[in-house]
Amino acid sequence: MSQVAESARRPSTADLTGGFESLDHETHVDSLPLEGKLPDWLQGSLVRTGPAKWEAGEQTMRHWFDGFAMLHRFGIANGEVSYANRFLQTKAYRAAEEKGEIVYSEFATDPCRSLFARVFSMFSPKLTDNANVNLVKLGERYITMTETPIPVEFDGETLETVGVAYKPPGMLTTAHPHLDRASGGMLNYAAKIGPRNRYRFFQIPPDGNEPRVVAEAPVKEPAYMHSFGLTERWLVLAEFPLVVNPISIPLSGRPYIENYRWKPELGTRITLLDRDTGEALGPFETDPFFCFHHVNAYEENGSVIVDACTYRDAQIVEDLYLDRLRDGKPADWAEMRRFRIDLGSRKVTSEQIAEGIELPRINYGRVNERPYRYAWGVDAQSGWLDRIVKVDTHQGETGSWSEDGCSPGEPVFVAAPDSEAEDSGVLLSVVFDSHSGNSFMLVLDAAEMTELARAEAPHHIPYGFHGQFVSDRQAAPLRSEARSA
Ligand SMILES: [Fe+2]
Repeated sequence: MSQVAESARRPSTADLTGGFESLDHETHVDSLPLEGKLPDWLQGSLVRTGPAKWEAGEQTMRHWFDGFAMLHRFGIANGEVSYANRFLQTKAYRAAEEKGEIVYSEFATDPCRSLFARVFSMFSPKLTDNANVNLVKLGERYITMTETPIPVEFDGETLETVGVAYKPPGMLTTAHPHLDRASGGMLNYAAKIGPRNRYRFFQIPPDGNEPRVVAEAPVKEPAYMHSFGLTERWLVLAEFPLVVNPISIPLSGRPYIENYRWKPELGTRITLLDRDTGEALGPFETDPFFCFHHVNAYEENGSVIVDACTYRDAQIVEDLYLDRLRDGKPADWAEMRRFRIDLGSRKVTSEQIAEGIELPRINYGRVNERPYRYAWGVDAQSGWLDRIVKVDTHQGETGSWSEDGCSPGEPVFVAAPDSEAEDSGVLLSVVFDSHSGNSFMLVLDAAEMTELARAEAPHHIPYGFHGQFVSDRQAAPLRSEARSA
């Protein structure tokens, strides 16, 4: 464990590896068994994506991130909870079903055998469309995404796959776009690979599918980028030193992520790009860290604050290989770290805000880009996700939920209507219960971290990554919650 002392860890008391079993079953249940009482105001859907199946014929994917995408929908209406799940009907999934083997390259799995096939797959549409990382609602469209540039639109009610949503202006992108408050559109990042590589940020309007590049910066070896930060003025491009020479991807004989190299000597380099002019400031340099998820960012007294879930190095990528996880081996875990960039002195300082937090969420509609107080996420004290934690950015961890034998996923914050307090609302988390072998949707009071209700699904839901709550109360509900962690 890189960030939390070994002594703070406790041995696993339960076998949580059942959450890595594949799920083949698609179903629809009108009313799940429900314990407790849902808030009357909570009406809408928790929609999630995640890997659900890691096998194709006799072959098995190599990494947690590789599994075929499945959509899950918990519908909440009139005190009852429905559930449905469907595989995303991607080219990657259908080809594997038809041929009984892995056909498309995934994050850490590459089926190509010949050099020609590798080069061909890098520069042709054979990139995977297995959008299993995160989803957003952009205008009226539901779009699920991964890090290859093929976002997939689906029907938010039926979970039916519609098709490719838009074409990002680059080859490597993130599944963590931000809301552009002014337009109701979306901001995201893509790395343009070619004779001159460049980072690009682009914007998509809520009702369009033509990306407009708003800022870009040249780069020789792009860093692995899972998310980025946003303040009211700046796009925050944090380059953690896991970098790739892009030409190596088709030539190396290794799957995508195994072409990246950890180069701590580069440190962490943070560049600020003006959202209006595209002008770049930086890079501002600090110690090497690795990070999947930014928590929030904002401007304060001549500084830019960037909060992120950080690791000392990129070991976590190795730790999430499927055979390790199915064997119950522990994974490294992140801390929440605050970077303060003093724009006057150009110095970057950082401090730990909390130990043990990943898959972070905030009251996004209210506080993203702005000073804020609270974040929620999951910890892994036993080596795998076993607690939901609440972090007060002024005080560190101030509350948690856990239950023996249970493994909670990302806690999605849903704000209570007309609430005064930033933390007034609920958290929705899909929890794997190793005792029953099933998963349930847990509803917590986000302020107190106490359980309000749980609705049990008819089967386990394989460990996934991200989802969004779409409220039925508002005309454009996800405009305020469309970000992912
Ligand atoms: Fe993520």
